[in-house]
Amino acid sequence: MEPRAFYVAGRPTHGDGELTVHHPYDGRAVGRTTLARPDQVEAAVAAAAAVATEAAALPAHARAAALDHVSRRLAERADEVAHLITAENGKPLKWARAEAARAVSTFRWAAEEARRFSGELQRLDTDPAATGRIALVRRVPRGPVLGISPFNFPLNLVAHKVAPAIAVGAPIVLKPAPATPLSALLLGELLAETDLPAGLFSVLPLPNDRAADLVTDPRLPVVSFTGSGPVGAAIRRSVPDKHVTLELGGNAAAVICADWASDEDLTFAAHRIATFANYQAGQSCIAVQRVYVHEWLYDGFLPRLVAAVQELRTGDPADERTDVGPLVSEDAARRVEEWVDEAVRAGGTIQVGGRREGATYPPTVLSGVPADAKVVAEEVFGPVLVVAPVTDDEAAFAAVNDSAYGLQAGVFTHDLQTAFRAARVLDVGGVIVGDVPSYRADQMPYGGVKGSGVGREGLRSAMDDYTEPRVMVLTGLRL
Ligand code: SIN
Repeated sequence: MEPRAFYVAGRPTHGDGELTVHHPYDGRAVGRTTLARPDQVEAAVAAAAAVATEAAALPAHARAAALDHVSRRLAERADEVAHLITAENGKPLKWARAEAARAVSTFRWAAEEARRFSGELQRLDTDPAATGRIALVRRVPRGPVLGISPFNFPLNLVAHKVAPAIAVGAPIVLKPAPATPLSALLLGELLAETDLPAGLFSVLPLPNDRAADLVTDPRLPVVSFTGSGPVGAAIRRSVPDKHVTLELGGNAAAVICADWASDEDLTFAAHRIATFANYQAGQSCIAVQRVYVHEWLYDGFLPRLVAAVQELRTGDPADERTDVGPLVSEDAARRVEEWVDEAVRAGGTIQVGGRREGATYPPTVLSGVPADAKVVAEEVFGPVLVVAPVTDDEAAFAAVNDSAYGLQAGVFTHDLQTAFRAARVLDVGGVIVGDVPSYRADQMPYGGVKGSGVGREGLRSAMDDYTEPRVMVLTGLRL
């Protein structure tokens, strides 16, 4: 197996040492690359700084053409890309295919936004002293971006760092997750097919303990990190003067409101929740983890939920019929097992699931778990769901907010007033009405409050984050 190249200033190269990527399901080696040497890291950062002015001046058509090219090539190679995602991450092929399709759309959206990103004209003659004046407010890149991406969406969360950077003309140095660098390297290959100036992108496989030097490097004034809360907090503390975007964890909740009461309603909610608590083995920051059900619906809902979870097929992620594959590693599955055991010791009941096999943890539903158990209060990042009855919608909303996190929430209601109340009172980045919290469209603002992070991704939002306003006032005009 030849080692895959990584990219320094747009050029394929190899470094020192070896990084072998193993399939989480059976442990076999599925790819190799090498680690970037310190001189290669320096070359990538120096090139990003050197090209920043040229990149910011690239015309929109050039940026959009590069992004469209990547989108098209990802679509052409979608099957290969999906198999690569499954091989390095272990997510079932059906979810890997969905991720590949999303990355196609993420780059396409970035191309469209690059064409639209024009700024704003502001009239200033609202004051007599400013008669004949007008302001052109455009956004310019803050400078080169450091992107640090996680293992759970090894392609599309890389796309969410890279595509908006190219869309605004900001160079980017990307450090993919060491467990899953292969999709990012494939993306590097597609970017290298474009006419983007050398230096505009680098993809550097590095162990996590070598990221700190990049984070503090003053030539990378923007840091966009997706990953764990403690690492995100450490990044923020270490560079208080940088522009830092953090997409951190969550313990996403769904609420079944009093009006979501018909057989059809409850069956629909049970299936959506069962699916999205367990998709990619729960390793999504918006996987459903907590469900609050109006108490008079609880006894009708719980058996439906358990039945829907039992229908999920666990197994080899390469099998098109598999719904739930392994976690990213056996260590990750052991940690989930410990948390479930702790919840049971604290009085919880396992309704279904609960027996680990290697790196695979089965879809598990718990009830009667105290609110301070880790499976409720922390981010499980595994296929574990905790369900609890509540007296009314207000109690449900209070329970959702009783969390250190605030990424997204799902509210099953048909009532418009309830929907708006939820959107008003829930302390989260997004409320999904009539569905699970796990819904994400790649163009919409995505991010959280409290421990879930700062800033928003989603193409246009990330483009705003990577740039700052630059005002030009024109004077003496006859308007
Ligand atoms: C995440 O885990 O934060 C990303 C979820 C998604 O993109 O669907």
